[in-house]
Amino acid sequence: GLPDRVTIYEVGPRDGLQNEKAVVPVDVKAEFVTRLAAAGLRTIETTSFVHPKWVPQLADAEELLGALSREPGIRYPVLVPNERGLDRALAHGVTEIAIFGSATESFARRNLNRTVDESLAMFAPVVERARAEGIWVRGYVSMACGDPWEGDVPIEQVVSVAARMMALGVSQLSLGDTIGVGTPGQVTALIEGLDAAGVTADRLAVHFHDTYGQALANTLAALRAGVTVVDASTGGIGGCPYAESATGNLATEDLVWMLDGLGVETGVDLDALVATSRWMAERLGRPSPSRVVQALSPE
Ligand code: HMG
Ligand code: MG
Repeated sequence: GLPDRVTIYEVGPRDGLQNEKAVVPVDVKAEFVTRLAAAGLRTIETTSFVHPKWVPQLADAEELLGALSREPGIRYPVLVPNERGLDRALAHGVTEIAIFGSATESFARRNLNRTVDESLAMFAPVVERARAEGIWVRGYVSMACGDPWEGDVPIEQVVSVAARMMALGVSQLSLGDTIGVGTPGQVTALIEGLDAAGVTADRLAVHFHDTYGQALANTLAALRAGVTVVDASTGGIGGCPYAESATGNLATEDLVWMLDGLGVETGVDLDALVATSRWMAERLGRPSPSRVVQALSPE
């Protein structure tokens, strides 16, 4: 069966904008987040407190949080890799964070300059301190369906890292198909494997990139396996600068179109999102890759 309601975890301002060549002015970012909230999104991953040299596109994290009027009832999680990032986030009144691990050694090295073990050791005090401060913590496991350097990633390897992230004390775990190579059978098997290891679907989110056009099919497989939190990026912008061949996330509009059709509630106004993507596309200087945005945009 399918859930009655799905929570969309919007990642456009973070996963989307971290990969844009153009530097997006901070006031445009703030307006983007505000428009997403106005369209009915209730969780909006806003930026990253990572090293500014590693992701210059999000070097304005402090200014963005300063420019944004955060509304009650809306969650604005940010990426935090380490204690330095947590200090910066706490200084700006952040109440939700996400740590981001990798199922593979290759990506852990490239993305975090750490082995998998070292990155988990880096996250442990972050989660501990965050929880002591009453901060909600999500954990990502990247390369959950394949890795550009290592190829196939065995399910047991993903399950093992996922279970270790959960054991750190995260509230929710997002399975990242960072390079968009996964297919639905793999997604079902992974969620079943996690369940067998004690990580139940009610603790999971799915994070698909649409590189191979599989993101919606994979999402449907995840919903049928009991997942009710789905990551998506308005307009389908995005990708990871440290993952070869990663393109944009599942577009939020494509997701909302499918869920509307299935009668699954999201609380999101599709027209308002499409208008936001068209506005953003003008600022980015290129059209949205989302099929739904294209279909709903007059010539
Ligand atoms: P490092 O070079 O090993 O850092 O980078 P370090 O710990 O050796 O520290 C070196 C210097 O950086 C120190 O300064 C630190 O204070 C400073 P110094 O003492 O030399 O003057 N520093 C910082 N400054 C500001 N903010 C910080 C910070 N941390 C250290 N947070 C590090 C290690 C983790 C920092 C680096 O690798 C990094 O920032 N990586 C982030 C990469 C990233 O953001 N990637 C994209 C997001 S992941 C993704 O997109 C996948 C996802 O979407 C899911 C999916 O699709 O699968 C989530
Ligand atoms: Mg991603």
